[in-house]
Amino acid sequence: MFRRADRRPGLPAAVKHLVQRRFTYHTAVDHINLSIEAGEAVAYVGPNGAGKSTTVKLLSGILEPTEGSVRINGRVPQRSRRAVAQEIGVLFGQRTQLWWDLPVSDSLSLLRDIYRVDQHTYQARLRNLDDVLGIGEFMGTVARKLSLGQRMRADLAAALIHGPRIIYLDEPTIGLDLTVKDRVREFLRSLRDDGVMVMLTSHDLADIEGFCRRLVIIDDGRIIFDGALDAVKDEFARERVLHIRTASPADLGPLRAALPKADVSVGDTATTVSVRFDRFVLTAGEVVEATGAIANVVDFKLDEPTIEDVIRRVYSGELVLRTGTPATAESRPA
Ligand SMILES: Nc1ncnc2c1ncn2[C@@H]1O[C@H](COP(=O)(O)OP(=O)(O)OP(=O)(O)O)[C@@H](O)[C@H]1O
Ligand SMILES: [Mg+2]
Repeated sequence: MFRRADRRPGLPAAVKHLVQRRFTYHTAVDHINLSIEAGEAVAYVGPNGAGKSTTVKLLSGILEPTEGSVRINGRVPQRSRRAVAQEIGVLFGQRTQLWWDLPVSDSLSLLRDIYRVDQHTYQARLRNLDDVLGIGEFMGTVARKLSLGQRMRADLAAALIHGPRIIYLDEPTIGLDLTVKDRVREFLRSLRDDGVMVMLTSHDLADIEGFCRRLVIIDDGRIIFDGALDAVKDEFARERVLHIRTASPADLGPLRAALPKADVSVGDTATTVSVRFDRFVLTAGEVVEATGAIANVVDFKLDEPTIEDVIRRVYSGELVLRTGTPATAESRPA
């Protein structure tokens, strides 16, 4: 729960605010009941302001819960910050934990001293981190002069230099270009395969797919779904839309007759048809083939639902009704 000062705009209000403060209490996370096992990779998603970063801060001991408790391997992070800090690595993609005016190598050796990593282990980890993240090329550069992608890679190294077995990554690929994203994702997979517990907060579905088996969706401080990612995708991300461009406007009648199980409509232009279908009922290939038999297909594009689409459907309550899974009546938003 955060205490937030209420202030009305304008100077008189600003003066009044100084003498007579008002606060509202805002519950950032509420009834978050979550336990994560070693070697598990969990995606933690939700809209802006849902409480994702707050959860990570509670887990790492940066924030103190007003109620409830957090345990990391049986310890309370707020009470045993030192011991817990040895076990966990945290990355906030939105800001750096590197010393801004120091070369990356100095930040890393400071962290080595803080975490009391012996020289031999440190060198071995550094080599490994350089292999996968390519940090060697900018080790001598001061943090403020790094590009975003370099900064993120250096930050990942900083979060992992003490060999944590639990890592929380809060938007680790934000602002990165595709090649660096791929590199970071591959690196995360190798950590998971080594048995590291990874909790990943991201708005990017590609970070999550093929990496996390478990998906937790949070909204307005509450968990509204906790279950298998595959189950969610099979159930809620099965719809596909194929946009097919034809040489001349296609006749929809015969196409609808050929694809009775799909929803066929005119697309953005007169020479585009949009076919909405369930991927468990039809394949994109079948749709293209059926269209090709009726019209001259020039090009096509397949739209797949994004994690945001899935989340939207979860809000509508469909997920709970159709899978009968985790989100309980009282933890669901009204
Ligand atoms: N220090 C703070 N003081 C007051 N309110 C805060 C503070 N930090 C966060 N909040 C509020 O708590 C709620 C949850 O914020 P949080 O940063 O956890 O969201 P998030 O899920 O990480 O969002 P995003 O996707 O935008 O990163 C928001 O309503 C936010 O405004
Ligand atoms: Mg956040």
